[in-house]
Amino acid sequence: MGNDIIIQLNNLSKQFDGTTVVDNLSLSIKKGEFVTFLGPSGCGKTTTLRMIAGFEIPNQGTILLNGADITKLPPYQRPVNTVFQRYALFPHLDVYDNIAFGLRLKKVDVKTTLENGKIVIEHRKYNADEIDDKVLNALKIVDLEDFEDRDVTTLSGGQQQRVAIARAIVNNPEILLLDEPLGALDLKMRKEMQLELKEMHRKLGITFIYVTHDQEEALTMSDTIVVMKDGVIQQIGKPADIYNEPINAYVANFIGESNIYNATSLGPNKLRFLGATLNTTHKYPANEKLDVILRPEDLYLVEPGLGFVDGIVASRVFKGVHYEYILMVGKSDVVVQDVHNYEVGHKYGITFDADDIHIMEKEFSENEYEEAWINDRNQLVISDAVFDVDVTQLIAGSKLDDNNYLIGPKGIKYNLKDYEVTAEIPFTAIEFNGNADDGQVRGHIIQSVWKGDHYQIIARTSEEEDYVADTEYTYEVGTEVGINVDASKIKLKVRGNLSDHEV
Ligand SMILES: Nc1ncnc2c1ncn2[C@@H]1O[C@H](COP(=O)(O)OP(=O)(O)OP(=O)(O)O)[C@@H](O)[C@H]1O
Ligand SMILES: [Mg+2]
Repeated sequence: MGNDIIIQLNNLSKQFDGTTVVDNLSLSIKKGEFVTFLGPSGCGKTTTLRMIAGFEIPNQGTILLNGADITKLPPYQRPVNTVFQRYALFPHLDVYDNIAFGLRLKKVDVKTTLENGKIVIEHRKYNADEIDDKVLNALKIVDLEDFEDRDVTTLSGGQQQRVAIARAIVNNPEILLLDEPLGALDLKMRKEMQLELKEMHRKLGITFIYVTHDQEEALTMSDTIVVMKDGVIQQIGKPADIYNEPINAYVANFIGESNIYNATSLGPNKLRFLGATLNTTHKYPANEKLDVILRPEDLYLVEPGLGFVDGIVASRVFKGVHYEYILMVGKSDVVVQDVHNYEVGHKYGITFDADDIHIMEKEFSENEYEEAWINDRNQLVISDAVFDVDVTQLIAGSKLDDNNYLIGPKGIKYNLKDYEVTAEIPFTAIEFNGNADDGQVRGHIIQSVWKGDHYQIIARTSEEEDYVADTEYTYEVGTEVGINVDASKIKLKVRGNLSDHEV
């Protein structure tokens, strides 16, 4: 281990009530680094931070601080302080006393160098002068000089959070943990505090471990971003690397706005997506399922027929420096940022530089159909296939009335006709039938792979919709099959705006 590593997490796992919320997480953090855990709610960010602070003990794995195992050390013995989202200041104390509170209770080894050069170590409380020095210095760092006598209840949210930060840094921690510290502030204050926190980090020179679910905040502030999902690290990297070279569709989607499309390799150097074929330099074998990612700022509009595909401009929003367009290519939408002004309703070609396309292997677990919708009989439509599904799963606690309207728990009535949803079909919910007429939709087998104990087979319909199934039996590539889905296992997720469908 290099000397510059301050904290090392080795295969950390944490379970609550049998559920794993942090899963075999390993990470090294350098001295003085600004590291951000980024991920959606519930992905285990706070739990990881609490293990570093000592408020939670991992079920598996170890935490090393400067090479020493601190996995089971109590919080107060760790040189770590935490700033929480809610400032939790003492309302009856003024700013000074809020910051001094912990210092007054603390017993410390105070080193004094005598005139003869001898060092004396005393185990005692800080005296008033020492506390004064520390508090005023902390106030300076958080830019609240002259605020020491203010009643904390008279401070703005941003000022209160600065007091909370001062209270954490007054102890000279080696590591400052910040759990969504700006979460309770309004947007303008957040932006201001982001820059100030960066500046504090620079002045203090200590390690900051920061938690947020806001990708922009992570990109602005961090030296290193750790992207998490379901307790598992997806990618670790510098902001620019994570933005430009996302490792999978999940990261790409989480960091910045992206167009993500299902693609299929047609063999090395050829890729099919958005209903068109692209010559690229990829090396995936034929029929490999891939994700293609195109950033809106990497796309340009040209004359119809001159781009990769043509699309119709469905909307245009002026964003200050550029316009943001949504173009419809068949049923898919493509977000494009362009400085030029184009007309809504007109057709344009969409083009990009070959270098700007990101192609990555799909991580399979289930079929996901992002362009599905509900018809007037509350059935799920995926291209030319129709399935009887339970639409009440779209709103928890809802039910259907006698006229097939969906009634929400608060009595709001919805007509789901044409409502856009994302549908997920597990691989195990699909079966193929050798008699092509005995299926809910027809397709032909394009791939069959032996996965050790079962086959993973892909059937494609005439509308280029793919159904991946885990099956016991296989079929020869090219065979026409009937595709059957156990509709009770289809999961629906809201995609369109439900309030547009209120009756
Ligand atoms: N003490 C606990 N007991 C049981 N479950 C817990 C406990 N603490 C956290 N969890 C669960 O562990 C999961 C991860 O929680 P955690 O607070 O780490 O997420 P997070 O990434 O910080 O989310 P958020 O962005 O909402 O703060 C959640 O499902 C949460 O409900
Ligand atoms: Mg949290």
